[in-house]
Amino acid sequence: MIKSADFISKDSQYKNVFFETFGCQMNKLDAELSLGLLQEEGYKIVDKVDEADVILFNTCSVRQHAEDKVYSHLGALKTLKKRHPEVIVGVLGCMAQKDGEAIFKRMPHVDLVCGTRMFSRLPELILKIRNHGSPVLAIDEKQVVNIKRAVTYRPNIYQAFVTVMRGCDNYCSYCIVPYVRGREISRTIADIKEEVHTLVSNGCKEITLLGQNINSYGKGLDGGVTLGDLLTELNSIERLERLRFVTSHPKDMTFDLIKTMSQLDKVCEHLHMPAQSGSDQILKRMRRGYTVGYYRDLISYAKELIPCLTVASDFIVGFPGETDGDFQETVRLMEDIRFQNCFIFKYSPRTGTKAADLKEDVPDEIKRERNMKLLEIQKRISLEENKKTIGKEVQVLVEGASKSDPNRLSGRTRQNHIVVFNGLQDLVGKLVDVVIHEVTDLTLFGKLTNCL
Ligand code: 5AD
Ligand code: SF4
Repeated sequence: MIKSADFISKDSQYKNVFFETFGCQMNKLDAELSLGLLQEEGYKIVDKVDEADVILFNTCSVRQHAEDKVYSHLGALKTLKKRHPEVIVGVLGCMAQKDGEAIFKRMPHVDLVCGTRMFSRLPELILKIRNHGSPVLAIDEKQVVNIKRAVTYRPNIYQAFVTVMRGCDNYCSYCIVPYVRGREISRTIADIKEEVHTLVSNGCKEITLLGQNINSYGKGLDGGVTLGDLLTELNSIERLERLRFVTSHPKDMTFDLIKTMSQLDKVCEHLHMPAQSGSDQILKRMRRGYTVGYYRDLISYAKELIPCLTVASDFIVGFPGETDGDFQETVRLMEDIRFQNCFIFKYSPRTGTKAADLKEDVPDEIKRERNMKLLEIQKRISLEENKKTIGKEVQVLVEGASKSDPNRLSGRTRQNHIVVFNGLQDLVGKLVDVVIHEVTDLTLFGKLTNCL
């Protein structure tokens, strides 16, 4: 057993960590937890690799592009590692889980490969490398992640992500997630409630519940609890202002849950529910388990009950077998639903998934064209929809200085619009009302109502 006292005495001179995260919100949360653990052990976070004693990449393997990026970052560290062999280089998360040992072969200067279920043992693994000087591979699939939030490293005390379930049992034919993140496991309502209470008593106002497949929350727990039950419980927490949840799967989304959303005052009027395609033929090949008709029915019902609801989606273009006709159906779905924003991806075959066996018959050129076309359509729709907010007053939770203009503040509406406006720093963390004057496809610009 390695005690943290040993760790501090032997390792105290190597306490600067550089940490970079790629990929989804779940990865960002894992990063938060890992950094929290490292900080508890006395690490200082640095933002330059040259100042670091430990360099960690928390990786994503959902598309080839994400992996290529990490390999190129790792490659760039070769000379640094030659000059400073004592610096520890580690690969964490999905790509670590998927590629395992092969990472050492391709990048011999890597010291640590730590999978999706091992990050809570990070300090101990780093110490092992320091003490023994040999690389460590930690990708045990049987490890059960302790998903209780043990430590809370958060860049912003007013907002927090809380994992309510991990893993995915869906096996959509293109997706690597079930292979690298494992089966679905839900946390109990009591556990989650306790964490949210702690966050709220420390000043948190907005909680986003996280799960790869959040609508199947509760599966495997006693008493047949659902996401609706969880939202209802959390909605009663005093001083919590806003509740969000991501990501919704249309197959597991229910009319009941939409009704519950509409009845709970803290649940924000926003859904991220990836459609992936507007063609039934493609949805079937993707093994998504719903039809476009069902998707449309869900959205119609949701907009009927929650008229100001905004919806975001993900789409994959160039999936094997996608014809021009299939693509036109995706265009039609986009035009009809009028999403607030969409993430559009070119299909990237992932070894080991069902779709990897399908013939890749959409040339890259066509994938690129379809990608551009959807981006163009979405940009126009986002701008048109944002224009509808001009002259209206919106409620904003102030998050901090705007990234594009540090002299202004930025925050989000309940519908997940980004709003930029003039105001003093002491408004950070407060709910304010802003009247919108100007918009782009991505941002609303306005003035505080009391400063008109
Ligand atoms: N190729 C392209 N996009 C993918 N996604 C998941 N797997 C792939 C893949 N193999 C997209 C889906 C998902 C988002 C997180 O990434 O749209 O919703
Ligand atoms: Fe991947 Fe489908 Fe699970 Fe989402 S629901 S993580 S796309 S397998």
